[in-house]
Amino acid sequence: MYYPVYRPRRLRKTETLRRMVRETTLHVDDLIMPLFVVHGRAVREEIAPMPGNFRLSVDELVKEVKEITALGIPGVMLFGVPEAKDAYGSEAYARDGIIQQAIRAIKDSISDLVVITDTCLCAYTSHGHCGVVEEGRVRNDPTLELIAKTALTQAEAGADMVAPSDMMDGRVGAIREALDENGFEEVPIMAHAAKYASAFYGPFREAAGSSPQFGDRRAYQMDPANADEALREIALDLEEGADIVMVKPALPYLDIIARVRAEYAVPIAAYSVSGEFAMVKAAARLGWLDGERAMLEALTGIKRAGADLLLTYFAKDAARLLTERR
Ligand code: PBG
Repeated sequence: MYYPVYRPRRLRKTETLRRMVRETTLHVDDLIMPLFVVHGRAVREEIAPMPGNFRLSVDELVKEVKEITALGIPGVMLFGVPEAKDAYGSEAYARDGIIQQAIRAIKDSISDLVVITDTCLCAYTSHGHCGVVEEGRVRNDPTLELIAKTALTQAEAGADMVAPSDMMDGRVGAIREALDENGFEEVPIMAHAAKYASAFYGPFREAAGSSPQFGDRRAYQMDPANADEALREIALDLEEGADIVMVKPALPYLDIIARVRAEYAVPIAAYSVSGEFAMVKAAARLGWLDGERAMLEALTGIKRAGADLLLTYFAKDAARLLTERR
């Protein structure tokens, strides 16, 4: 095909024509909204670097989730901020921990929403790491039991899906085993399979108060320079029983999403993280770009790369625009 026989512009002439040949369409069903839950009542505290996102007490969370459901968004991912932290992150797996309370409250008032929980210790540990720390190092195997316990208490509270984000080796298998032994064989696992040690988590750590108090997460999260390793991580999590695999962050890792898509016929989630959201919001506030268009372009790009599910702080904004357009 070559010019002048082939003129690509012929099919770009009008919006209706463009719509006919469009290869990727964002849909509200693709979206999952991350939410932050705190102790207390009537708390609705905006997270500074994430305008429009709040730390919500359980009562406010229920209101928020009703709004999200009304917009047609099928799922939320819950992150908890505990009352107190300790070395072993015990509120993460407490029966009446903040996440467990939040799940019960949502399930009491809304039935048709997929409640996914972040299954991790970092917001609950005094040192801010995602596992058990001994002699200044994050230990892998002693952490697995705590992660599995966390997933189990979340499932017991009514979580529809658990999403381990710690990047310990073997955690998907440990969770699968704990869930199956306790009658939760039908609760799926969305594994943060290829999660990179990223600077783009900055605003989130402020929101969740989950910054490591010493060192960083590079001894467990992936090196941003590696791609083949991501495929090994995905393979491992699938063998251990992951139902959905996630790539995180999204925008700087579109090549990873595309490679996973090419290699595996499984649902792929992409987590467009707090820093990706903050970048667009900040530039839009300064008048340096059109925030709505940038949002839709970024989300479309993530889907085009091969993601089926988009975890994004833009979920509500995007859902509103997508429904208005019909
Ligand atoms: C914790 C966790 C993090 C995010 C989700 N779960 C941060 C981290 O690993 O430090 C980041 C999400 C975001 O930035 O939006 N395991």
